Formats: sequence, structure tokens, C-alpha cells
Amino acid sequence: MAAKFDVKEALAKLTMSQKIKMLCGKGWWHTEPVPEAGVDSMRMSDGPNGARGTRFFNGVPSSCFPSSTGLGSSFDISLAHEVGEALGDECRAKSTHILLGPTVNTQRSPLGGRGFESFSEDPVLNGTIAAAYINGLQSKGVAATVKHFVANDQEFERFSISSDVSERALREIYLKPFQIAVKDANPWALMTSYNRVNGLHVSENSWLIDDILRKEWGFQGMIMSDWIGVYSTAESIKAGLDLEMPGPTVMRGKAIDRALIAQKLFTEDIDARVRKILELLARAHASGIPFDGPEKGVDTPALRSLLRRAASSAVVLLKNDKKLLPLSIFGEKKTIKKIAIIGPNAKTAFASGGGSANLLASWKVSPLQGILNAIASSDQGKDIQVEYAVGGQTHTLLPLLDGYIQMPEEAKKSGGGDDKYWGGKEEDKVAFVEFWNEEPGEGWVADPTVKGEGRVKKSDWATPTGSSYCFLMDGIDEEKVNDICWIRYTTTYIPDTSGPHTFSLTLAGHGTLSINGTLLIDLSTDPPQGDSFFGLGTADVSARVPYLEKGEKVDVEIRVSNALFVGKGGPFSTRGGIRLGGSVDVKEEVAREEAVKVVEGADVAIVVVGLTHELESEGFDRPNMKLPGATNALVSALLKVNPNTIVINQSGTPVEMPWVDEAHTLLQAFYGGNELGNGLADVLFGKVNPSAKLALTFPKRLEDSPSYPSYGDKGEAHGKILYNEGIYVGYRSFDKRSLDPLFPFGYGLSYTTFSYSNLHVSEPSFSASSSSGKNLSLTITFTVTNTGSLPGSESSQIYVSYPSTSVVPHAPQQLKGFAKTGILEPGTSEELKVSLDRDAFAWWDERVSRAGSGVPGLHGVTSLGGKGGRWVAEKGVYEIGVGASSRDVRLKGTVEVKEGPLEWLGL
Ligand code: BGC
Repeated sequence: MAAKFDVKEALAKLTMSQKIKMLCGKGWWHTEPVPEAGVDSMRMSDGPNGARGTRFFNGVPSSCFPSSTGLGSSFDISLAHEVGEALGDECRAKSTHILLGPTVNTQRSPLGGRGFESFSEDPVLNGTIAAAYINGLQSKGVAATVKHFVANDQEFERFSISSDVSERALREIYLKPFQIAVKDANPWALMTSYNRVNGLHVSENSWLIDDILRKEWGFQGMIMSDWIGVYSTAESIKAGLDLEMPGPTVMRGKAIDRALIAQKLFTEDIDARVRKILELLARAHASGIPFDGPEKGVDTPALRSLLRRAASSAVVLLKNDKKLLPLSIFGEKKTIKKIAIIGPNAKTAFASGGGSANLLASWKVSPLQGILNAIASSDQGKDIQVEYAVGGQTHTLLPLLDGYIQMPEEAKKSGGGDDKYWGGKEEDKVAFVEFWNEEPGEGWVADPTVKGEGRVKKSDWATPTGSSYCFLMDGIDEEKVNDICWIRYTTTYIPDTSGPHTFSLTLAGHGTLSINGTLLIDLSTDPPQGDSFFGLGTADVSARVPYLEKGEKVDVEIRVSNALFVGKGGPFSTRGGIRLGGSVDVKEEVAREEAVKVVEGADVAIVVVGLTHELESEGFDRPNMKLPGATNALVSALLKVNPNTIVINQSGTPVEMPWVDEAHTLLQAFYGGNELGNGLADVLFGKVNPSAKLALTFPKRLEDSPSYPSYGDKGEAHGKILYNEGIYVGYRSFDKRSLDPLFPFGYGLSYTTFSYSNLHVSEPSFSASSSSGKNLSLTITFTVTNTGSLPGSESSQIYVSYPSTSVVPHAPQQLKGFAKTGILEPGTSEELKVSLDRDAFAWWDERVSRAGSGVPGLHGVTSLGGKGGRWVAEKGVYEIGVGASSRDVRLKGTVEVKEGPLEWLGL
């Protein structure tokens, strides 16, 4: 592998047909190689809270970091940098050159299916944390792909919806985090979004890609589409979209030949796109990461400790009215003998949100396990009794059987299949998947009594797997298994409770589920279609088995045919998918009663409830802001019986908490990654003093959220969603309406207290900017003192309020910077310093014409004044607020901008 790669030389060697081939990916995760011209194939991987590698099915396990709303809530720039570095190491171990992250879309609504993937509702927090992550990642030679550019803030009709947004809101809120990332971190790649903006798909929008991103901001990196997110040939290439992903091509290839013949495209257009891919390839060469290299995991003590620190840094203490926390089980003060742990999110570790962000974590520590670990870590923990009860089923889909299944004996005897693509450990093999290129017997799929031609030996290929969820997009021996194939999934289920059971099946394909040889669910003919498997799957269908005995082995068999499915020619290739859920039937009231009994006798009850990766995921938005099933009834019941009840909500985005007034001790845990349980326990038992603050406003009810009248499938116009709230997103809207949220943006408690003093705002100094116009700079300094009795660290936020003399209205206050102290001992202080430049005083002026840009405005009508706008910072007196949260501003000062108005374009 040559470390030095000459872009010019390589471009000169390529023929037109080779260049055309390179404009589309090779399969899901690689770029197209051209060995004759010395062009290697780069590898990419999702992103953003881990590096999954090249397989959805049977992938190599990866570290899973807290999902982005958790990392954003840490308000910790250096932590984000460290996470970026660790992701870089993980990519290197997986021979990955390009990580598909970070995501910096905006949580316009609490309901966004992918809300958990972005850092914050605030553009400065979102962009600043992203920039630190990118700098960390790229310091390891791995390209970041900032995504999804832009206004991809809902999942409903994501391929076609038009986000209709004023140019001012687009610039100040939605483009801003991308702009900050480009300015502060120079990402080497960017992914366009699926949606349209003001009528035009972003992947062919030359105003967004070329005028703003490349010309105005000077972005130098490679631009790729989202997966199957290209909808034109010549237009997308002209606009500047370099790479169509994934392959094989849908919109390029031969269609480019025609566009060249028709002179809709010219050689220069193709060369410009190929050059960007080659420039990224030059970086890949410089990184030393091998091409077509092996995929491995990483596990070092330093990584383990970072994962744990990241997990505890993402826990927000919302209420501690009785000073119940930290729990004292160690040392002199120890008073606790019995702890009750309740809730569906306690025993299962929900490490990440769902969709493409989800990955097979290398290990996972559940909250229950984390608490048990903490107790066991001390001699004094020996006498503490811990009792657990689930309290209720809160899944909308039945839980996967993972944890209750094992490899069938018969499969073991046969050798257990081919390990070629198995990425996990030996003990993680819990099911067996066989593939046939011909139907094994007539009527085999629909009728489990049809045996077909034998079992193991006769299949064309077989593999072990580690879950009752299999998305068969990859990880299959392509040489042995045809696209159209017949599949059998077998496993042995061992119930841990006797009683009636319900199983549920979702397939990408047609098939059946049988239990102990008897057909239970038939999806073999015309199955109802649903949202699963990125919209390719059936609806989830369930059925009951009257009785299963605890500990007795149950044979589970699923048969699938993908012939009709593949024949239909889906948007991307997969051999199908299987999701098998199931559990003993739990009557909500019975489970609740049981939990109440466990809690009654305990000194402390810890209740862990929330959402899951199946409720917050890609492809759909949440229907409401409620906790699932009977969760609220469970929490209310437990709060009544035990005065020492601690409630932990785990979700990526806000939920309603109707019992909040009764809960005196409340924590918000996001999806915390591998070490979520240990991180949470560190906070509960005071090993870590919490310092996270909410990166999102938690509204009391959905109706209070700014986009409520116009979001998701509730848009008033067909095919478009009007961003009616304009610039008033998140706390900007709550402040503007003087509306009290449940918990405000930037809010979070500590086990200690802090005072703020000595605010000093320097006079702004003016200088010529490196891009255009004049810049200004000033520094804000203030002192934070730990006035409590425990060591702790504090995140402080700088809010700027614009002068009332401004020619347009603004949000009452806007976050323009933040800083965090180190761990302060009681009684000690730290001086924090935040630097601001002209961006802190800027707003987007749509009225001014910018000759020649041809910028389309709202609804396709050109902006006021005709052609675009510019940034403006007016003269005037600005208020500077230093806050412990957006609703707890501790220090106030002013600064006068005496020169101006400053006007500029670009970074
Ligand atoms: C997602 C992207 C992701 C890609 C590859 C798409 O569906 O929107 O964020 O990187 O798939 O998995």
C-alpha cells in the first residue's frame, strides 16, 4: 500500500467508464476500486455512537458509546473529543476509513424517531460537541461524515417530504450545526439527507450543496448520498453530490452515459466528482488503515474506563428533593439493608437507540447488573439484599428471546454451521440459520410437517447466530447462497417462568413460526406489511401458546421464503429478515402487584423505566410522548408505597411524566452504551457526582412543543411539512411564550451546590475576518465556587439576548457558548473563560439581495429582495447571561457592540 497517493495521477489514469463506476458505492459499505488505476476500495461504517463494521447480520461486536442526546447533555467538549478518538481506534480495528457520523439534525419535536442521534436542540451545543467528536475521530486518520444535510428532522415520508422552512430558520437553527462543524473541525465527508428542502431534494440541490456548503463555507470534503437517497442523475452530479450510496447504482451507471451523450453532463462534471472521492482516498492512504483489512473489536482498560465515564457523564439528576442521593451503602453512614429494583429497563440493557445507529455491543451492563456490581465491589455490600421485579411489560413489541435461547442440539451435532462470517464469541451462538437455493420440499414454508430434504447437511449453507433478530443483508456466503433462497431459523427456548406464552413474528419475506413442531404464526401468504426492516417487513403478528413449563426446552423453528420479496425488487438487496419476540404472559396488574410487594419491604426502591431502540428508531416517529404500556401506572403505584423511591427514566428524547410531582428523586438516563449500568450505579452511589444538563427541553405535554401543530404526519399540506415555528425551536419557543417546561434546557442538578461570581465581559475588539467582512472578539470570565460538601463539576452556559433596537425579533436568549469546571473540592473555585466572536451576535438577514446566487426561498419563491441574504450583527447593547440552566441565569452583564452593522457571508 503506497502511503502517498497522487490524486492527479490517478485521475489521469482512469477511463470514463471507470470514473462512472466510481461514482457509486460497491455494496453497502465500500467505494468502488479500480485496481488498474491504483484505486483502492475505502470502507465505511455506521455511526454515530459506534462503528458497527460491515455487517448488520453476525457483525463483529463494537463499543457502543452513549447516544448523542446523552453525550450532548454532558456539555463536555473534551469528553466528546475523547469519544471521537476512541471511535477512531474502533474504526482502525475494523479497517474502516470513513465513519458515518456524527448526526447533527435538530430535535424539532420530541417525537423524532432519530432524535436520540443528534446532540441537542440548540445549534451551538449541537455543532460544538460534533466538532470536538470530529476532531477526535479525524486525529486518528478516520474521516467523519457529518449527516444528514439538512432539515432531516422527521422520519414520516422521509424520502419525499419537503421541509419547508424560512431561510432565516434554516440558517440560524438547522444549517448552523453543520456550519460550526465545518468551521471548527473540517469534516472530510458529509452525507446529504433523504428529504427535500423547500421543494427540492437535497441530493440535487445546488444551492445547498454548491452555493452554501462548498462556495460559501469552503467545504473541501467528499459528499455522499444517504442510502438510496439519490433521485436524479445529471442534476445530482451537477449539484455536487460526489458519491451515490450504496451500490449497485440506481441513478448513475448507464444513465450517466446517456447524460454525457445528451450533453447534460460533461467530462469536467464527472472529473470534479471523482476528484473528491480520490482526495478522500488520499487521506485513507495517509491513515495507514489497510484496504480490505480484517474486522476486529477493541477492548482495553482505557477504553472500558472511558465508556464508563461517558455513561455516567450522560446521566442528568432532575430531582433530589429529599437528598436521598447519593445512596449511602458504604462507609459509616450505611443505613440501607434492602434495595428493590423494578422496571423493564432495569434488567435489559438498552445501550443505543434503533436503526442504523444500533449495533451489537461488545458487552452490555444493565442498570440491575451495574447496581449489583457496585454493591459487590465493597465488603460492606455483602449484607445488602437486592430484589428485582419487572413490574410490567412495557414493550409495544414483545421482547426478543435473547437471553432465553440456545443453540439446538441437532445443529450442534452437525457442527453448528460455517463460522466464516460469525463475529461474536463461541458462547454467544444461540441459534442456527440454514439457507437453501431450492425449496427443500413442496409446501415446506407453509407447513412445518413437510420435512423436505433432510436438515443440516442438505442446506446449501448454514451459520450460527446470536439473536432472535436477524436482518439478512450481509454476513452470508454470497458464493453459496443465491439471492432468492429458502431460510430456516432454529433455536431452543428455555422459559424462566411457567405459564401461557405469547410469541410474535415479523419477517422481511414470507414464512411461518412453529413451536414444538406445531404451526403457530402463518405469514406465508399475503402477510400484512409494516414498518420493520427499514420499511421492508411485515407487520408484527403474535399468537399464544397455552402453557410452557419453566426450564423445559422448547423447539422453535421459523421457515422463510424470500422469492416474492426479492422478485419485487426492493430498494436495496437483502435476503430477508426475522424478528422473533416472546415471553410468558404477564398481566399488568399482577406484575404491578408483585412489584409493589417487593418495594414495600425495601429501604430504597429504584425504578428504571423508559423507551427502547424499538420505540425510538429510524423509519418512523413516535406517535406520542408517552411512556409505553402501563409504565405510568407502575411508577405511580410504587411512589405511593415506598417513600424512598428513586425513578430513572431512560430515553433518547423527552417523555411525559404525569407522576413527576410525586417523584422526589428523579434521574434522566439516555441510551448509555456498553457501560450504561455501571455509569448509572456510579451516580446512584456517589462515585460520580452528576454534572450533565439537559441538551433538550422536556415539555410537560406534547401540545406545548413548538412544532406540535405541524410535525410528522400532522402537516397541514400534502408532501410538505411547514416549519411554522421558524427560529423558535426548543427553549427559544418556551422562553418566547413564557411557558414553563417540565424541565428546561440546560437543567441538571449536582450532589453539591455552586455559586457564580465575578462576571467580566471584555470590550469587543474588531479585526478583518479571514472570510469576509469584519469580525469581533471578546471574552467572558466568571468564577464558579463549590459551596456544598461534595466534590463536583459544573456546566455553565452563556446566553446572549439581542438589543430591543434590532430590526427583527429574536428569541429572548440564545446559547452562544458553554464551559465546564474540573472537579472542584468543596470551598474551591475555578475561573471559567468563554470566547465569543461575531457569530454570537449574528442573525440571518433575508432582505438583502446577493447578486447572482439564485437562491430559492420559502415555497420556491425567492427571498425578500430577490437573491438571498447575509449575516448581520447590529450595533447595540447585548445582555450576557451566565446560567446554571436556561431558566437559572446567575450572572448578568452587558456588552456594547459599537461598530456596525457587521455584515458577512461564509464562516
Ligand atoms: C441512514 C444513515 C446511515 C445509512 C447506512 C441510512 O438509512 O439514514 O444515517 O448511515 O442508512 O446505514
